Amino acid sequence: MTPPPEIDAATQARLEAVCAAGWEFWETFDRTVRERGFHAFIPAEYEQVCEALVAHFVPGRRFLEWGSGSGVITILAGIIGYDAVGIELDGALVETARGLARRFGSSARFVHGSFLPSGFRWHAAHGVRNPEQTGDGRSGYIELGAALDDFDVVYGYPWKGEEAMMRALMREYGRRDAVLLLNDTIAGVRSFMDDRPVS
Ligand SMILES: C[S@@+](CC[C@H](N)C(=O)[O-])C[C@H]1O[C@@H](n2cnc3c(N)ncnc32)[C@H](O)[C@@H]1O
Repeated sequence: MTPPPEIDAATQARLEAVCAAGWEFWETFDRTVRERGFHAFIPAEYEQVCEALVAHFVPGRRFLEWGSGSGVITILAGIIGYDAVGIELDGALVETARGLARRFGSSARFVHGSFLPSGFRWHAAHGVRNPEQTGDGRSGYIELGAALDDFDVVYGYPWKGEEAMMRALMREYGRRDAVLLLNDTIAGVRSFMDDRPVS
């Protein structure tokens, strides 16, 4: 694999500032929205995901985040140099992400919709579906003007039991040479290519 690029001090400072803003937003969101009831947005450890994004960066690579929440990870990817987009089902979070992107001068784009392609149907092998966790909506790829196999690096943070669904999505709709990054609360960020773990 090509060695990861060096991140200069100014870029590192920008990445850290985005993470700090993300944690600040999360604190408020947790205290207000999540206190009132369940919400599917829970952030990954941004700093760990950022390391994985740097490790897999090659100029020209396109990045997609499934369920981009407040947008932090897609914005980090854009600052690293990816052509970065996020799809998120909650319209208010999409607005937050766009605001954060503007604040940090990021070219990251956000689409309101579902990361599930319109033809995708859950079946038993994808696990038991909990619609509170992965919800339904108009497929975001339409507005994006791109399909899953247009992306080189795809990132998701599956809820417990939903990893099989995300791996199936890549097998069925992604490119075989694309990297799938899956965040796991315990194992951290794991990388897959052609549905096999890669280091
Ligand atoms: C566990 S959070 C992960 C947030 C962010 N990706 C991260 O790693 O920090 C899952 C996010 O997916 C969103 N979501 C749930 N179902 C979705 C769907 N079908 N399409 C797009 N986003 C969805 C939720 O609203 C939530 O923001």
